[in-house]
Amino acid sequence: MCGIVAYLGNKSAYPIMIKGLQRLEYRGYDSAGVALLNGSLTIIRRKGKVKDLEDFAVGKNLSGTVGIGHTRWATHGKPDDRNAHPHLSGNGRLTLVHNGIIENYDTLKKALEKLGHVFHSETDTEVLVHLIEEIQTRDNLVIEEAVRVALQKVVGAYAIVVIDKEDPDKLVAARKASPLVIGIGTDDFYIASDATPIVEYTKKVVYLNDEEIAVVKKDGSLQIFTISNEMQKPHIQQLDMELERLEKEGFDYFMLKEIHEQPRTIADGMRGRMNAEEGWIRLGGVAEYVNKMSKAQRFIIVACGTSWHAGLIAEYLFEDLARIPVEVEYASEFRYRNPIITENDVVIALSQSGETADTMAALEMAKEKGALIYGLVNVVGSSIARLTDAGSYIHAGPEIGVASTKAFTGQLTLLTLMALKLAYLKGTITNSYFHELLTELENIPAKIGKILQNAEQIEYIAGEFKGASNALYLGRGYNFPVALEGALKLKEISYIHAEGYPAAEMKHGPIALIDENMPVIVIANNKSAYEKIVSNIQEVKARRGVVIAIVEEGDEVIKHIADYTIEIPATEEPLSPLLSVIPLQLFAYYIAILRGCNVDQPRNLAKSVTVE
Ligand code: G6P
Repeated sequence: MCGIVAYLGNKSAYPIMIKGLQRLEYRGYDSAGVALLNGSLTIIRRKGKVKDLEDFAVGKNLSGTVGIGHTRWATHGKPDDRNAHPHLSGNGRLTLVHNGIIENYDTLKKALEKLGHVFHSETDTEVLVHLIEEIQTRDNLVIEEAVRVALQKVVGAYAIVVIDKEDPDKLVAARKASPLVIGIGTDDFYIASDATPIVEYTKKVVYLNDEEIAVVKKDGSLQIFTISNEMQKPHIQQLDMELERLEKEGFDYFMLKEIHEQPRTIADGMRGRMNAEEGWIRLGGVAEYVNKMSKAQRFIIVACGTSWHAGLIAEYLFEDLARIPVEVEYASEFRYRNPIITENDVVIALSQSGETADTMAALEMAKEKGALIYGLVNVVGSSIARLTDAGSYIHAGPEIGVASTKAFTGQLTLLTLMALKLAYLKGTITNSYFHELLTELENIPAKIGKILQNAEQIEYIAGEFKGASNALYLGRGYNFPVALEGALKLKEISYIHAEGYPAAEMKHGPIALIDENMPVIVIANNKSAYEKIVSNIQEVKARRGVVIAIVEEGDEVIKHIADYTIEIPATEEPLSPLLSVIPLQLFAYYIAILRGCNVDQPRNLAKSVTVE
């Protein structure tokens, strides 16, 4: 996690740093800091958000056309001013920002202390800047060479940008397992953890690869070489990202904007990939692998967080429609439990950011074992997108709110297309059902639009429960993972404890918790298990529980049993999660707002978890 931004050129660096850090705040917001080079080094660091840094900077010398900035998600050392980046070398000559974890920092620190280095923070980053200083001074090296030698001694993950005060016309950047993008301006350079701070200035970018070091200079040159000192030719790419899509567009929070964007993002995810009338699905990124996929012994889906929930729904889709056995794994567990993977397996990574460290590591392991690896990500050019054999982008546009919404429905849309494509190839569903599902998929954006028009009712119900301390979410079949997702949304942004359960499992534990203070949210729009869900609702009511039910439009049965019903349009069961999750996103959003929470930046969380 953590966000990095850097600038070298002729413009004033400070405003570029601040704007860039604000765009990267989704990566962490425990502290923020900048270093500016203006003859001497000015370093300003502050616990809290970028806004706190800005307030703190008022009245200070903020001049300088070279700068590095950082927004932190704490790993080593608590979030305070002392541990905030940039960190300074002992001789005051070098300063750096870092995203990642130096795993052997303790050993390095002890060795450096023996050599007389004194540390002022608890961070692994300060150890790294001292290590570079030690090597530079000992061997009298230019900064890029000192960085290269130092990184050979480092175990772990890093994206860094370094300033050397004595070499003021250059910046040195390096990466391993944490992302870094270099933007090439007309006569300047921008460096950042992702392209969002860069797009405003240039669309020409180079994504740094693992174990590469880049040197950008005021004379306009860009040099890339590896840690083992091999020169690399920079691969310049064109960014496909619009600045307007990074703004809030009149919504109070990015999360609300992103919830409301879903009719469009789902349509974008389908665009050019299917035609219901003509009855075809084309997924460019997998075209040459689709036969292999249809013959796969099994699919293993690896993911974290909300993406893992999308994976659980995919299990229903692939098994139900395409009859392919599926296992869905938390990437963090999968990578450490010596799993059995064969060449006949297809391993699918689901990730909004394309940078989640555990998901990356799980994929790398699967690749080594010979499985076909397929990535379904949102962020174009991200690490997972570049690692996989095949992949598809979900085209949801930048997702800034930490709690994932439109990326989730984007993933579901693409997973549905994949399952239908494979089902068609394998002949596991009838032609008419294939056509019905495709046609209905095209109707989904408009149906979500209809649910969004009902936001006021959901806001009202949220108001009734804003004081709750616990909540239970129940669902069955395709909608069981939606219950998990609804509970996750509520807990991550409103800090109300919530659990998702398969409705029938309620009897094996959670039923003991039910009383008149416990809202029970039941996703009841399934057609197949409808009677069973009605019975589950009766069971909750019999224990004086308060039921909020998500039902199909026109449902007359549940309306008379549940305390509140939220109607959503009818749809085909495999597509029902695309609709049922929308009121749950809104419900969590409104409760969090009513409780005064910052929904875009919930405490302790980060959007992109690039540490394990
Ligand atoms: C973090 C985010 C979640 C996200 C998860 C997985 O926990 O806060 O919203 O679902 O990471 O991230 P990914 O980018 O791999 O989908």
